[in-house]
Amino acid sequence: MAPRKIIIDTDPGQDDAVAILLALGSPDEIEVLGITAVAGNVPLALTAKNSLMVCELAGKVDVPVYAGCKAPLGRELVTAEHVHGKTGLDGPTLPDPVMQLTEGHAVDFIIETLRREKSGTVTLCPLGPLTNIATALQKAPDIADRIAEIVLMGGAYFEVGNITPAAEFNIHVDPQAADIIFKYGGMITVMPLDVTHKALVTKERNDAFRALGTPVGIAVAEMTEFFERFDKEKYGSLGAPLHDPCVTAYLIKPELFKGRFVNVEIETQSELTMGMTVADWWGVSGRTPNATFMGNIDVDGFFALLTERIGRL
Ligand code: RIB
Ligand code: CA
Repeated sequence: MAPRKIIIDTDPGQDDAVAILLALGSPDEIEVLGITAVAGNVPLALTAKNSLMVCELAGKVDVPVYAGCKAPLGRELVTAEHVHGKTGLDGPTLPDPVMQLTEGHAVDFIIETLRREKSGTVTLCPLGPLTNIATALQKAPDIADRIAEIVLMGGAYFEVGNITPAAEFNIHVDPQAADIIFKYGGMITVMPLDVTHKALVTKERNDAFRALGTPVGIAVAEMTEFFERFDKEKYGSLGAPLHDPCVTAYLIKPELFKGRFVNVEIETQSELTMGMTVADWWGVSGRTPNATFMGNIDVDGFFALLTERIGRL
């Protein structure tokens, strides 16, 4: 079977980096057409630079990386240095990139790629705020029918918020963009905190990354060792939650995840619950289902896949 063509939209972020590495280490299943950076965990200049650094760490210097939107559609940018560090990729010492950004705006790359590739063959994989994807849909409504699927990390239901009591970070940063995505009309698969908070890098799992003994394995161990602090302090977690790698793992082994096809709508009015993903998990609203909202993960299978693929780089 031909590898699945994807665009990774991202705000690296240590967990974004691991998600990108998993994709780049799986060429039989995934063809990364390009990486589009968006402002989120840290400002755009850093998420773009970090995207380049991750491609170089993987030895995949031919992947086009584009800079995208530097602010949410209708709100001030909120960043997460308190989780990811000043650079957004604290932990390992990685060299400044030699690779350059590819000329052009990320939004135009998304539109042009969807118009060029056969309709229904390109999957969008947003790992950060949804600003780039929403802007592309606003600028070129014709692309909506050409998207194979949007597989995103964001939102929460049983887990509720990690940045406010009600909202998960990616959705909270740009709720207006998320609202556009959840109304685009095509296939959506959501990896919420309900799943990603189960994908924890325990010491044993971190030791397994380090035991790979490769520059990539050691860098992943150092990344996850750094960004675990926030969740350990807040939730008493046993390690860093690998939010974004759930997206790329789903593309390779969807059977690792279980969820429900439900209605998901985004709070965009109330400041109290701004950015909440109102997932009708129990089917009580009568609203039409629009997304597969994941609720469970085979954690051992996830880490076995991740460690094996990281080991290939
Ligand atoms: O809430 C977790 C999400 O916010 C992840 O994508 C992480 O990288 C941050 O962007
Ligand atoms: Ca992210």
